[in-house]
Parts: sequence; structure tokens; C-alpha cells
Amino acid sequence: MYAGVGVCEPEDVVANRLDPWHGAWFHPYSFVDLTVADAPDGSDGPAAADEDAFAVDVSFKVAGRLVVPVRAVFTAPEPRTVVMHITEGEGVGSVVETHATPLGPDASGRPRTAVIEAVVAASDRRGFALARAAAPLLRPLVRAASGRLWRDDLAYAERRWALRSTGRFPGA
Ligand SMILES: [Fe+2]
Repeated sequence: MYAGVGVCEPEDVVANRLDPWHGAWFHPYSFVDLTVADAPDGSDGPAAADEDAFAVDVSFKVAGRLVVPVRAVFTAPEPRTVVMHITEGEGVGSVVETHATPLGPDASGRPRTAVIEAVVAASDRRGFALARAAAPLLRPLVRAASGRLWRDDLAYAERRWALRSTGRFPGA
């Protein structure tokens, strides 16, 4: 589980989670070969079965040249909640929920938002022999990568809010 607080509003946290492309350019140390497989607007071709979901095919860089390809499907069942299901690949069946909760403003009057992310379902089904063999060695690396992902995602949300609050964010 992760818990943190950012200078932003819940919508900035949700926007980060629902930005399907940011993993490729914002987390290049963790993700490669990212493609968006299903988009809510059907721009990917035939309409997705669930119009409110999008899927990302991506490889998670574990160590060196070792990557773990997965398909992750994102939905927002509530305005401040984003759920990610791993539907193919390593850890298939895993579900991660992210919740953004508004807190009171800080001393400067800026909004603060608590972010809580928890694995609500875990799967030990493993898709790749290499990853399986290396798993005990990889877990600390994955955790370390997650810490960096979290710091960067919070920075993304804070920057989005900073741009919105000064009128520099188009369309928001
Ligand atoms: Fe991210």
C-alpha cells in the first residue's frame, strides 16, 4: 500500500492515473513498448466492450533487459477512484485501487489531496519462467521502482494543479 499527500486536487491525481500515455514518456525507467489498446472514445477502432475503460499494453522493466509485458485495464468507478486490473501477463488477476481524498488547504491556502493506493486483489499466477525464477530477487527492485513511480506521479499531479491554478493548463 502507498499513502501520500500532494499539493493538488483529487482531479489532478485522477487525471494522472487516467493519462494512458504518460507511462512511456514520464516513467521511461520503468515502462517500455507502451501502446493504448482500447480508448473510451473508440478512436482505436471497434468500440471497446466497456466504453468507460481503456487498456494499456506495456512492458515493465524489472532489471537490465528483463521486462514483464502486461495488459492493464483502467476504469474510474467513482469520481475519485481509479482501478487498474491486470488482465494479461505477469500478475494477471491483480487489482490495484487508487483513491484521492481532498484534505484542508495548507498554510498558503493551496489544496492538499491524500492519495492511497492499495492492491485489493493479488495473483501469484506467473506468466514467464524467467520472471518466476528471478522473482525473489526482483521484488525489492519492483518496490524501489514503485517508490519512484509514486514520487513522479505525485509531481505530475502537483504540476497539473499548478498549471491549472495559474490558467496555464489548456482546457482545465
Ligand atoms: Fe504514473
